[in-house]
Amino acid sequence: MTDIKTQFLQNTPADIAKAAAIIQAGGVVAVPTETVYGLAADAGNEAAVNRIFAAKGRPNNHPLIIHIYDMSQLKQLASNIPEQCHLLAEAFWPGPLTVLLEKSSMVLDAVTGGLPTVGIRMPDHPILKALLAQGDLYVAAPSANPHKQLSPTTAQQVYNELSGKIDAVIDGGACQVGLESTIIDLTQVSQNESAKILRAGPITRAQLSLALNSPVNGYQAHEHQVPGNIEQHYQPKGTLQIVDTQQIIAALNDWPSCTACLWYSDEVLRQIRVNDTKHINKTQFVHMSATKSMYAKALYDSLYKLDQNNISTIWVEKPPQTEEWADVNDRLIRASA
Ligand code: TXA
Ligand code: MG
Repeated sequence: MTDIKTQFLQNTPADIAKAAAIIQAGGVVAVPTETVYGLAADAGNEAAVNRIFAAKGRPNNHPLIIHIYDMSQLKQLASNIPEQCHLLAEAFWPGPLTVLLEKSSMVLDAVTGGLPTVGIRMPDHPILKALLAQGDLYVAAPSANPHKQLSPTTAQQVYNELSGKIDAVIDGGACQVGLESTIIDLTQVSQNESAKILRAGPITRAQLSLALNSPVNGYQAHEHQVPGNIEQHYQPKGTLQIVDTQQIIAALNDWPSCTACLWYSDEVLRQIRVNDTKHINKTQFVHMSATKSMYAKALYDSLYKLDQNNISTIWVEKPPQTEEWADVNDRLIRASA
C-alpha cells in the first residue's frame, strides 16, 4: 500500500465534522477515547473495516469492538440482549466496559472475525461522542497501535506510528484512563451461567458483581475465547522485566543491569529521597503513582517515552497483586513475555 497523507485534526466542530465525513466515505480515523486511542472505521462498510486490519498489521481473525453512542444502536447490533446487559449499561456506560453479546445479522463477519458474538461499548469521550452522533455512525475500532505494540494514549503517538497508513487522527489530548476497557462475556447468562471477564480492565470484578447483584467469573490469562488475547502484547521496544521492590532498592546502590526503573512504592521512595535524583549510576528512575488509576493513566505513556529514548532494558517494580490492579498486572505480564 502506498502511503497516504494523514491529516492531524483538532477538537473543533469543523474538524469533527471532517472526521465523520472521512469515516462515512470509508476512511480510517484515529480517535480519542477515555481508555486509549482507537482506529475507527464505519462498521457497516467491509472495505473500510479491512483497512483497519491493514493499517495495524493485525490478523483478520482478531475481532473488533463496535463503538456506539446511543442505546438504540445496541438493539440493532446484538440479538437476545439479556437483562444483565441493561444493568451494566446503566451502571457503566458511557465508559470503559465492553460487553460480549450474540451478534445480529447486521454485524459483518469482517468485524467479528467470523465469530457469532460481537463486542460492544459506548465510549465516554466528548469528541468521539460528537463524531458518532454527527454522522449517526457506529464504528469498529481496535486500539490504534501497530499489532502487539503499546496502545497509544496521545494523538502524537498515533501519528508517529501510523502516519501514512490512516486518513486522519483527531487530537483529544491524553486519555483519562490509559488502559483498555474491561471485556465481559454475557453470552451465557441466559443459560444461567455467570458473566465472565475476558479482559481485565478499569472496571473491576467487584464493581461488575455489585451492578449485576451476582458473582462474576474472574479473568483467566490467555483466555482462548478472545482471539486477540495473545501472550506477547502491549510491548515496548526495549526489554521489560517485572522485578521485586528489593531489586529496585538494590539498584539504587548498585550498577543494575537495566537502563530504566519504573517504581511506585513507599519503600523505594524512602530510599530514593536520600539520593534525591532521577538518575543514579546512569539508570533513569521513573516515579509512578501508588494510586492505581493514576498509575494506569501514566503507564503506556511512560513506556512510550522510554522507547523514544532507546532504552534497552526496563525494570518495573511489581505492582500490588490485588484485583484492583488486575489490568495493570495483565498488561505488564504481556509486555514482559
Ligand atoms: O478500551 C478499549 O477497549 C479500546 C478502545 C479503542 O475502545 N479498544 C481495544 O480494542 O482495546 P482491541 O481490538 O485492541 O482489543 C479488543 C479485544 C481483542 O483482544 C479482541 O480479540 C477482543 O477484544 N474481542 C473483540 N470482539 C470479540 C469477540 N466477538 N469475541 C471475543 N473477543 C473479542
Ligand atoms: Mg489492542
